[in-house]
Amino acid sequence: MKKEIKLHYLEFDDETQLSNVDALLLKQAQEAAQNAYAPYSKFKVGAAILLDNGQIVKGNNQENIAYPSGLCAERVALFAAKANYPTQTIQTLAICAIYADKILSSPIFPCGSCLQVLREYQKLSDHKIRILLQGMRGKVMIFEGVENLLPFGF
Ligand code: THU
Repeated sequence: MKKEIKLHYLEFDDETQLSNVDALLLKQAQEAAQNAYAPYSKFKVGAAILLDNGQIVKGNNQENIAYPSGLCAERVALFAAKANYPTQTIQTLAICAIYADKILSSPIFPCGSCLQVLREYQKLSDHKIRILLQGMRGKVMIFEGVENLLPFGF
């Protein structure tokens, strides 16, 4: 039997069409991207997480000369959030990126490992995590729930 999965997301031309809270979170992710340590890939990613208590936790990718020792921005932010606020629910995760100091005008998507981590935290709190994606300007994509980016996960 052939089956089909539909993924849903919202798309906006830019951040001016978003709520103030979402626009602010993207700004925080942009700031975080600027501080990424990415001398090897030159791909700087920033993540900002909004928790239930209103606290924002930021992260960015951290690379290492022993390449697999580095970590993506999303997991740096997610693990920091869970380490410091273990009982808080994650409301929203915003992700922005810069490549070789160029301003990207299209979003980048979280890798499978980060999505798997997100999936578990979403399940734990039984609350859909909103994921906001933007380059550094222009198109914004909003996913309401990790399942819209990772329909199957472990
Ligand atoms: N990276 C992230 O931080 N998040 C993503 O969603 C994709 C990739 C990082 C990992 C590595 O430091 C660099 O971008 C290039 O892959």
